[in-house]
Amino acid sequence: MTTPVDHCPGLDPADAADRTSATADGPTDLSGERLPDAPLQFRVADRVATLPPYLFARINQLTYQRRRAGHDIIDMSMGNPSDAPSQAVIDKLAEAANDPRNHGYAPPLGIMSLRREVASRYLKKWGVRLDPESQVICTLGSKEGFGHLCLATIGPGDGVVVPAPSYPAHVYGVALAGGTAHLIDTTDPARYLSEIARIGETKRPKMVIVNFPHNPTATVVGPDFYRDVVRLALRYGFMVVSDLAYADVTYDGYSTPSILSVEGGDRVAVEFTTMSKGFNMAGWRVGFCAGNRDIVKALGTIKTYYDYGMYRPIQIAAIVALRHGEADVESQAKIYERRRDVLCEGLARVGWPVAVPKASMFVWARMPEPLVGRMSSMDFATKLLEEADVAVSPGAGFGTAGEGHVRMALIENESRLRQAVRQIGRSLAGDLRPSLTS
Ligand SMILES: Cc1ncc(COP(=O)(O)O)c(C=O)c1O
Repeated sequence: MTTPVDHCPGLDPADAADRTSATADGPTDLSGERLPDAPLQFRVADRVATLPPYLFARINQLTYQRRRAGHDIIDMSMGNPSDAPSQAVIDKLAEAANDPRNHGYAPPLGIMSLRREVASRYLKKWGVRLDPESQVICTLGSKEGFGHLCLATIGPGDGVVVPAPSYPAHVYGVALAGGTAHLIDTTDPARYLSEIARIGETKRPKMVIVNFPHNPTATVVGPDFYRDVVRLALRYGFMVVSDLAYADVTYDGYSTPSILSVEGGDRVAVEFTTMSKGFNMAGWRVGFCAGNRDIVKALGTIKTYYDYGMYRPIQIAAIVALRHGEADVESQAKIYERRRDVLCEGLARVGWPVAVPKASMFVWARMPEPLVGRMSSMDFATKLLEEADVAVSPGAGFGTAGEGHVRMALIENESRLRQAVRQIGRSLAGDLRPSLTS
């Protein structure tokens, strides 16, 4: 009989036979004692076993089943950009991939010319001067960077203020590092600030996460918000992690401020930016961490233990995108803005008025009034999927603070969104009538 162990390089099959042997009754060890022949069950680490459940799984599964049954699902469930990066960026990737010198390991924290390009974008966009060597590193998307930053800075007993409703990675990153998340409602920035002050005083957190434009609620802030956060950080001694994933997706003239542009910002904060959203490069995994030298260094240190950095041709293409892609970023934001208008105006027309976002690629919609309290956001999302063939994310997937809402990602084109509105309108016609006649 051939077993995989027979083919292990450097292992003499006779040695293998010395250790175990298989009989008709199953494997035995040297002394002839029976060994279990069923697959062993291993217990995963507590840090994994205690992670909160992944609530989007049910909608994903249902979407999959309905697609298999032949339904054309209009999918607004995930913030996964569906448009392509500019052709020049793709061409640069192909050219760099054809250069045999580019296939080895790249510098783990990013090639210096890419880090310089990020620093130069900070200067152009926000007037922030950064030293690319000590204040900017590249990450494999900002999610990886955030997770490893938690591991590098947070441990058991450390408290972290996390925005609620929550982008799940903010909660999981803190939990996997052994920290304690203080979930604070972030939909009213002034209240978020006063809660940060209260927790700063009473619980002395080690870190505060801020994420504006916010996923999932699309809440935005102005520069004053960051001035106040920096003051609180200096007073209570916490570090600030600003997640600027949606910095490039803004509407109606709004532009996203950077915490690094306010006085004292780089004394307390790092900021994550990404090429996933505005540059349509989500699958490429290009993110950046910039700001406070010590925090950037801590992230860099832990990353060198975990990964070998980003494929060099991707980094080279990212430089081209950053250097020449600002107009593409703007026109992509305009595409999202038009989709937002189609969706929000359409929903209002069918009797479901929703808040109109100023940024992010999401519409965070309170469930239609007659249904709030009558069904959960999970049941409502299921209803839209089953009756309208429209997939949305249930608010509860972002934590209990998200209940009563659904999140719709603007990743389908305008005509598909019009179709989604018609189908949603038909599905809700019976439910909305009472509120329209009252
Ligand atoms: C708030 C927020 N931060 C970070 C990320 C991760 O982005 P990246 O693709 O850079 O890892 C996302 C992605 O959806 C997000 O919504």
